[in-house]
Amino acid sequence: MQRSTLRLLGTYALSVLAISACASLGTPEDQEHSVDLWQSMQGYKDWAQFEDFEGIVDGDSVHGDYVKVWVNDVGAADPANLPHGTIIVKEGYDDEAGTDLNAITVMHRIEGYHPEKGDWYYVRYSKDGKASDSGQVGFCIKCHDNVDDYVYFND
Ligand code: HEC
Repeated sequence: MQRSTLRLLGTYALSVLAISACASLGTPEDQEHSVDLWQSMQGYKDWAQFEDFEGIVDGDSVHGDYVKVWVNDVGAADPANLPHGTIIVKEGYDDEAGTDLNAITVMHRIEGYHPEKGDWYYVRYSKDGKASDSGQVGFCIKCHDNVDDYVYFND
């Protein structure tokens, strides 16, 4: 019993450390979700791409000079409305050939997650799946707030 208490305390201390090291990782649930989401989105390169967003296209933001965007089945079935359960994955590249991947940013629409802002959960991963920002990330929302339904591709 003592052991498990210790382990719990250790986990708690670790998550406090993680939070204070980087304030934009959100709540412990947000961080947990970033790990689960990374698992569940594997294989995204076989997902659908939006019209006008096929292959690699010029980027127009912090996301890189070139971007590739995919959407899961839920979003692809209704791109104009993007139902809850939609996951959009975007890879940002520094080169047109698409060899220099700088980050993978993802939006996941979760029922009841953040109703004031369209219920979008935001996360930014390095290539190997480490989240540097997750949850209701202020600087993501700042830009995405400017477009219809918080997404650029159908703006
Ligand atoms: C400076 C403005 C800006 C910021 C900050 C920003 N984005 Fe974006 N985002 C864009 C633009 C513009 C696009 C359209 C594609 C492009 O031109 O790169 C986009 C596209 C996307 C897409 C593809 C879906 C869509 O909207 O078309 C995702 C997913 C995404 N961003 C996630 C994020 C996440 C996660 C963050 C925060 C870690 C973030 N973005 C921060 C401007 C921004």
